[in-house]
Amino acid sequence: MSTQACNQAQLADSTFVWHPFTKLKVPESTQPATRILQRGEGSRLWDVEGRVYYDGNSSIWTCLHGHGHPALIEAVTKQISKLDHVSALGLGNEQAAQLAAELCAAMSPVFSDGRVMFCSDGSSAVEAALKMLHLARRLRGEPQRQLFLRFGGAYHGDTIGAMSVSHSTGFHHPFCDLMFQSMTVPTPACYRCPHNKAQPERGVDARQSRRCEWECLAELEAVVDSAPGGTVNALWAESLVQGAAGFVMQPQGYLRQASELLQQREVWLACDEILTGSGRCGPVSPSVAQGARPQVVALGKSLSGGVLPLAATVVSREIAQLYEQPQATVFYHGHSYSGNPPACAAALASLQLLSGEHNQARQQALYAALEESGKLFWQHPNVGDVRQEGGILAVEIVQDFINRNPFPPQLHIGTRVCEAAVARGLLTRPVGDVLVLMPPLCTTADEVKDMAQILFDSLCEVLPSRSTV
Ligand SMILES: Cc1ncc(COP(=O)(O)O)c(C=O)c1O
Repeated sequence: MSTQACNQAQLADSTFVWHPFTKLKVPESTQPATRILQRGEGSRLWDVEGRVYYDGNSSIWTCLHGHGHPALIEAVTKQISKLDHVSALGLGNEQAAQLAAELCAAMSPVFSDGRVMFCSDGSSAVEAALKMLHLARRLRGEPQRQLFLRFGGAYHGDTIGAMSVSHSTGFHHPFCDLMFQSMTVPTPACYRCPHNKAQPERGVDARQSRRCEWECLAELEAVVDSAPGGTVNALWAESLVQGAAGFVMQPQGYLRQASELLQQREVWLACDEILTGSGRCGPVSPSVAQGARPQVVALGKSLSGGVLPLAATVVSREIAQLYEQPQATVFYHGHSYSGNPPACAAALASLQLLSGEHNQARQQALYAALEESGKLFWQHPNVGDVRQEGGILAVEIVQDFINRNPFPPQLHIGTRVCEAAVARGLLTRPVGDVLVLMPPLCTTADEVKDMAQILFDSLCEVLPSRSTV
């Protein structure tokens, strides 16, 4: 791109675009221009100035197979030239119907006879689920069950309902007067769990070395039982990983046990698998694969392989049946692009890729490469925990390994490390002082190694030796 065209794109961006989760630029400030990306191929992205970067966080956790994957491009272009879009209000299309059926099959046995409502982003999938669950309790003759539980640090999106069942003070505090009340359940997070008696051990994920009596489940039980008699509707749980909370990862078996405990109390489980589902951590639905029995699962992000906006609210037969009763009214909720054919075609192609032997081997190779690369970070004395769930590797930076004390947030260690990584050709975004590597599935073991080395070198640049303040 010519220098002039490049400057024009940057000027238009800085003048007219309002970037999510970004402070608007102060006019006349000398802040560097936003990096404008122009092209993507596999695990790499190019900016308008011709610089190349690794896509270290799969473009905010969406791009699943790699940029420009031929199977996804073919599926979308074929579909878009046949039928670009059609209303889902009383009308159907082949792709949405097939995708709904395939999702239910992939999420069997819990959802084998469930139903799927499509929308375009994760927050909307959560919003639809909230309204479905709210009305479902009324249809079940339990109008008092309207209280939602959520984990500490939960993040389910930025619409009003999704914020209400989130617990992210940093993101949502300014809007608390718009939200409804939810009740907080302690986060199942071994690294900082007050009940984990194990001393920190270098080289070991805190979940593996944990010594506890599953107090997190006892606490969940206590919160459910403390809620005024029979008022709890459902627990909202991000399955396996709470991304925005700092890539907090649950111990293996938590979801299944939590699900059983809730079931005994007739409290529903609503799983947010927008980050971890659709193949990012293996199965389409990690909670179902773990033996949990959610009533609702929200999918998004990599559902379309990361190429078009698509999300889904998948409900169990138990919920669908309530709405199938003759006395049930219309569920007044929907979106103009619900079931968009090209987006659904991309999702079908993505599911097909995921089920292919070649891709399953790739997935396993990527997970193994991430695990191997994770070991590098333990060489740095300020690394407190290295944890992995499928295609997600998280590295937590702390001031003090033994006490797990974080650095003061105003030092922005995570952001500075990731800025140093951009200069070295790796794009990723931290959550606080937790560094993340979540490359697309096409990334080779050598590329993963390279990305990890860049991130490690960037960490060493920001914290040259063991650092405290
Ligand atoms: C777990 C989880 N739920 C919901 C959302 C919201 O999804 P979206 O940004 O597509 O609205 C996100 C986004 O990061 C997420 O990580």
